[in-house]
Amino acid sequence: MDFMIESMAQYRSEYEKSVKDPEGFWAGIAEKYQWQQKWDKVLEWDFEKPDVKWFINGKLNITENCLDRHLKQRGNKLALIWEPNDPKERFVRYTYRELHEQVCKYANVLKRNGAQKGDRIAIYMPMVPELTVAVLACARIGAIHSVVFAGFSAGALADRINDASAKLVLTSDGLYRGTKEIPVKRVVDEALKECTSVERVIVTERTQWAVNMEEGRDVWLHDELTEVSADCPAEPMDAEDMLFILYTSGSTGKPKGVVHTCGGYMVYAGYSFKNVFQYRESDVYWCTADVGWITGHTYIIYGPLLNGATTMMFEGVPTYPSPGRFWQVCDKHGVTQFYTAPTAIRALMAAGDDHVLSYSLDSLKVLGSVGEPINEEAWSWYHINVGKEKSPIVDTWWQTETGGIMISGIGSASPMKPAHAGYPLPGIQPVLLDADGNEITEHDVEGYLCIKYPWPSILRTTYGDHERCRVVYFSHYKGYYFTGDGAKRDKDGMYRIIGRVDDVINVSGHRFGTAEIEDAINTNKKVAESAVVGYPHEIKGQAIYAYIILKDEPDNEDNLRSEIINSVVEHIGKIAKPEIIQFVPGLPKTRSGKIMRRILRKIAEGDTSNLGDTSTLLDPEVVEVITERAKQLKG
Ligand code: PRX
Repeated sequence: MDFMIESMAQYRSEYEKSVKDPEGFWAGIAEKYQWQQKWDKVLEWDFEKPDVKWFINGKLNITENCLDRHLKQRGNKLALIWEPNDPKERFVRYTYRELHEQVCKYANVLKRNGAQKGDRIAIYMPMVPELTVAVLACARIGAIHSVVFAGFSAGALADRINDASAKLVLTSDGLYRGTKEIPVKRVVDEALKECTSVERVIVTERTQWAVNMEEGRDVWLHDELTEVSADCPAEPMDAEDMLFILYTSGSTGKPKGVVHTCGGYMVYAGYSFKNVFQYRESDVYWCTADVGWITGHTYIIYGPLLNGATTMMFEGVPTYPSPGRFWQVCDKHGVTQFYTAPTAIRALMAAGDDHVLSYSLDSLKVLGSVGEPINEEAWSWYHINVGKEKSPIVDTWWQTETGGIMISGIGSASPMKPAHAGYPLPGIQPVLLDADGNEITEHDVEGYLCIKYPWPSILRTTYGDHERCRVVYFSHYKGYYFTGDGAKRDKDGMYRIIGRVDDVINVSGHRFGTAEIEDAINTNKKVAESAVVGYPHEIKGQAIYAYIILKDEPDNEDNLRSEIINSVVEHIGKIAKPEIIQFVPGLPKTRSGKIMRRILRKIAEGDTSNLGDTSTLLDPEVVEVITERAKQLKG
């Protein structure tokens, strides 16, 4: 698809076109894809309801665009390279023809097991090729996939299955991740005790561990595959039919199911991938994210395959068996575009330069960063040691809700500035608002980051609760999509993301709502009340600090801490573990009972010089008590 921007001048003219005539601009991009039936109208929108529709009455199937369309020209080209956790195990490669066949077969397995268009299918799997195949197989038959990261607990998985009333669960026997071995199927069995909607579980064999297979419910994928043909026509989908649900955390209550639809998501995933990474035909592209997050959806699977690219999937972690693993894989497969998270870069930076300097990394052309602001030190390390000062770094700002990259460099076509995401992609109209909701039009300013015009892959709703979508994203500032982030715009008009301005904590690039963690902590019967905040952490970006009021004096504080951590692990997963737990006699509250998180955040940061006026608090003394103890804990 030839919509690649190759210079700043071209970017400027495309951007201008996209703002002057958004519908004409996006229609021109959409025409490069394969539609079973063309749309009648490009866009209808109303941010107040919200109601956004792109490519109205267009019919398509995204897998025809990811697979079938390439068979003639790229049938023998590599579509997918899979690199296992253990470097001694053989890697796996699928050509476009092979991947197409696998997807069609898996799609027939889904049908054979009762799946139909519109059904929700939960996918809880390790990073194995069958995960990508499973996702595409759902899309092939028009079932809505809901991938749940296989590090979430049984409780978290059950919540997500129930919220979507998933009919099938696709999983594996177990998984390897670094030195860890996780009994995935056992987690699913545990979760399903709480779920009534699931009729079938399809199990991929990865570890060959003995697992419980429930008669009438659980089947092995390899058995099922022997029963099906490789012929599976792609289901015609309306552009606005749901493609997938992906759960993400917000500042209130339980995670919400962000919904993306077929047409707009496809158009934007392909367009943004090609431009940001400047993908060319013989490149080998590697995104190290997990398919369980939006980055994996859009930039391991859909974006690359829509462009006929060779995409790599990695089962392991950056530090196993050594902190040189990423770089060894880059050299081994001749990776040209490498896309990872700042937390991984910081962890590898801390392990020492020797691990990276022993690899040539000659093939690399573009480096990417995603998930959180990248600090200047990590940026420079990445630029010098990995990019050898010749590869541009694209710092890509976006969200689960945006479906694709929104503000970012465009390969080497745009200027880069450390810690700055840069300019909006064509079609994206960001604005900074002040606290009263007025647009700040000057440069060299700071404000709440909002988007004022729809783009094709904007979320359409939150599954089963449209009002929540309206309240969270479209009610803060009338007529705008509110991102939840604060940002600066510098004198050159480049954006620098500051971070969340709501009660969302970004730990190693993963989002958690404070309320969600507090709910998990409060399940412990000894806890009376808790308040959780984020604080800066050298590797994780942010870590979780929990202030907890107990009902009674504990016998043993350390044991109780472990118990509370277990509650969090059980309800959410290990990734949401608090780093520091402080037992407190009370919390700083206003007279109306609202917890002053700002004060707790400052204490957690170790910055108590300017706590503001605490005299109006319900119990001003408590601040001093908390501060003293916090110093000891952090020390
Ligand atoms: O705060 C921003 C941060 O991650 C949030 C979105 O998280 P999630 O939906 O999990 O998606 C992560 C991967 C797209 C944003 O609201 N964020 C993401 N990318 C960046 C970022 N912050 C700064 N710079 C980035 N490049």
